[in-house]
Amino acid sequence: MIIREARSGEEAFLAEACVQIVKFMRQGEQDKFIEGFPAEVTGDLLTWAGSHLTEIDRVAFVAESSDGHCVACILGHIEPSSLPMAVSDPSGRVSVCWVSAAHQRKGIARLLLEALQAWFAKRGITHLEVAYMTKNTVARDVWSQLGFTPFRTFAYKEIDGASD
Ligand SMILES: CC(C)(COP(=O)(O)OP(=O)(O)OC[C@H]1O[C@@H](n2cnc3c(N)ncnc32)[C@H](O)[C@@H]1OP(=O)(O)O)[C@@H](O)C(=O)NCCC(=O)NCCS
Repeated sequence: MIIREARSGEEAFLAEACVQIVKFMRQGEQDKFIEGFPAEVTGDLLTWAGSHLTEIDRVAFVAESSDGHCVACILGHIEPSSLPMAVSDPSGRVSVCWVSAAHQRKGIARLLLEALQAWFAKRGITHLEVAYMTKNTVARDVWSQLGFTPFRTFAYKEIDGASD
């Protein structure tokens, strides 16, 4: 297995990985907050995935199997920390991590995270943040195993009377 930066032309693979994560989450406990997530690759998703191949503060790494196929990816970017009062330095954000079913539980997510961490560290980033849906208990467990500690909870409420 080779871990390398994603290349131009691989945005479709990265976008498809995002869709696969949505499909995975839809298999679990019903979650109204993921209803609007894309069920297929859209133009916007492709553009967003592609931005990780071109923008200076974004990056994507892939895992390539010995037969030359991409089987996993991790996407990240640099942005202000979500700590209240923004007293902290910018953080390295992990936005997507996906490993195809046949290659899970072999340490690939860990290797991808190490590559991403090294990329951030080279840019002076000293801490990482990741967000996951509350009902995605797999994500909670995996990020915990990979060294992350929950530090802030987001809450959601719908309100009446919004004008266009
Ligand atoms: C979550 C996912 C990226 C993990 O990838 P992976 O390559 O299988 O993970 P690794 O083998 O590197 O395991 C990393 C750690 O997480 C743990 N882990 C992996 N899958 C797990 C699971 N399903 N439940 C609980 N812990 C899990 C491993 O035990 C390991 O910890 P350890 O080294 O201390 O034993 C992959 O299963 C996936 O893509 N799942 C579906 C999509 C998804 O939900 N992604 C978003 C959440 S990250």
